[in-house]
Amino acid sequence: MSNYHIKHLEEYFQVYRKSVRNPEAFWEEIAEEHFVWRKRWNKVLKWDFSKPEIKWFNGAQLNITENCLDRHLHIRGDKTAILFEPNDPKEEAQHITYRQLHQRVCKMANVLKDEGVKKGDRVCIYLPMIPELAVSVLACARIGAIHSVVFAGFSSTALATRINDCDASMVITSDGSFRGNKTIDLKGIVDEALNHCQGIKTVLVVKRTGGKVDMKKGRDHWLQPLLDKAYADYTAEIMEAEDPLFILYTSGSTGKPKGMMHTTAGYMVYTAYTFKNVFQYREDDVYWCTADIGWITGHSYIVYGPLANGATTVMFEGVPSYPDFGRFWEVVEKHKVTQFYTAPTAIRALAKENLDFVTKHDLSSLKVLGTVGEPINEEAWHWYNDHVGEKKCPIVDTWWQTETGGILISPIPFSTPTKPTYATLPLPGVQPALMDENGNEITGNQVDGRLCIKFPWPAIARTIWGDHKRYKDTYFSAFKNMYFTGDGALRDEVGYYRITGRVDDVIIVSGHNLGTAPIEDAINEHPAVAESAIVGFPHDIKGNALYGYIILKETGESRDRENLKKEINQVITEHIGPIAKLDKIQFVPGLPKTRSGKIMRRILRKIASKDTSNLGDTSTLLNPEVVQEIMDGAL
Ligand code: WT7
Repeated sequence: MSNYHIKHLEEYFQVYRKSVRNPEAFWEEIAEEHFVWRKRWNKVLKWDFSKPEIKWFNGAQLNITENCLDRHLHIRGDKTAILFEPNDPKEEAQHITYRQLHQRVCKMANVLKDEGVKKGDRVCIYLPMIPELAVSVLACARIGAIHSVVFAGFSSTALATRINDCDASMVITSDGSFRGNKTIDLKGIVDEALNHCQGIKTVLVVKRTGGKVDMKKGRDHWLQPLLDKAYADYTAEIMEAEDPLFILYTSGSTGKPKGMMHTTAGYMVYTAYTFKNVFQYREDDVYWCTADIGWITGHSYIVYGPLANGATTVMFEGVPSYPDFGRFWEVVEKHKVTQFYTAPTAIRALAKENLDFVTKHDLSSLKVLGTVGEPINEEAWHWYNDHVGEKKCPIVDTWWQTETGGILISPIPFSTPTKPTYATLPLPGVQPALMDENGNEITGNQVDGRLCIKFPWPAIARTIWGDHKRYKDTYFSAFKNMYFTGDGALRDEVGYYRITGRVDDVIIVSGHNLGTAPIEDAINEHPAVAESAIVGFPHDIKGNALYGYIILKETGESRDRENLKKEINQVITEHIGPIAKLDKIQFVPGLPKTRSGKIMRRILRKIASKDTSNLGDTSTLLNPEVVQEIMDGAL
């Protein structure tokens, strides 16, 4: 029996039991057999959630890029590592082999070194989804610098905050970026940010759009001439297992963003293992995750997890709607993609469009479909299953977080029977617990509670950069000796988990706990509704009442609004009960969303409670303009 590659349900249960009975032996075997180390560990795991302190493979030495690149050279040097699909479908795709990627990373590593970057220094990467982004990430890892990738859709203020928080000394950016038919002046955004950052000594600039940029003498350098001169080999820096690999910022519910710090060995072992199993990756597959490397999904499942397995990983520069809504499916057909991993928000957006965009493409190469980022509603799940997977591809609804580094709860395709809206079962090594408000574990099935994890897994973040106390307070203080996820979940009669949403999204109406997700699911079942968001607002009698913001499909636009409101409440009554009926319904043109597609309920809550004096920072929204439109139409 192989612990590394699970192939059927019985095997999953066996491996899972083994991983819980003796986690150290379990992970040790995987680490030993599937990775290259410069020095072996002294101890597999040392942990104490009360401090919190977590150390995996302590004493071991390695470089993650030797695992992602060097070791593949003699067996799959000419295999495509990164398949780059540009924004413009007329621009040719690039097949970058393992050998070429190794060379590019080595050259970049030499450039970084020549520019004075040392082991442990922080390098901020603010690049679009072009090969240089992956190359820069890996080059940092090769020399032992800590990368902090900032999604290139963030504003200059957000960028400056992130540069200053981790004291980065270098920024790697590009002149601009292409997104659909738009061109964005990234270098200009960096220049503005750097007016507020004292620590940046060097800016390396990739030429992508050819747009005009200002180059500050002594600080800014075009990257290509430096690469041209650089030597194409670089001996990887030897890293300790617990040396930091990267910092990635995630927004907290309040205050400044949290720089989640991930370390080297455990992160590598866990992302590689979960990639292999969750996507049932095989040697000749072409795997595509549509996320941006600016998010944890891209770090773990575009770069590190796939490359550690010697996979071909697609990097897509564009957007799902350009040149039309068939772009995803055109790319799947063109590159014969076998695993496709995207977000529910993208699925819902595409499901609104004409089905021809999907059906005119040959999607027969697909084997596994994945989703991540938020609960997927039933309607979207079925659309994905019926029209994209043609009912032949298991859907892996993968639950995890920036903090967890890798997927924790997910079906294993072809092993775990899927169930719409359920992330199903914990992966090997993951020990979930549902907790009640009094801090007691809720055992048995058909229960719900706050989702915690009882035992460390190798990829858990080790701290918040510069603020260990906040790390402890946020994740390890709500429940004793547990990692608290901030999510609510239910466990059904067979032990499957369904993530019900952030527990801070729970609204208590007349003493009943209502999660926003199930109500929104119900509303979205109405044929005229494209998307919805529910928030609570203060109510004299019920404590809270529900306010619904609803986007109509084009077919709903011409309908009588009052009738529609009645029908929507009827659907809610049918799915959940009259208790969940909406007191107010506002039809809106859009919903305020973060760049990762999450609805900013904080803003909607304020509008619903007529408290719009201080909406807080809206600069990181994908669509800040929609806020005013919603305020204008507020009830
Ligand atoms: C939060 C973490 C993990 C990469 C992308 C998001 C929600 C994530 C699911 C899922 C229901 C999900 C949770 C979680 N979430 N995946 N499959 N089903 N909810 O990373 O920005 O750190 O957000 O996203 O609420 O806590 P993130």
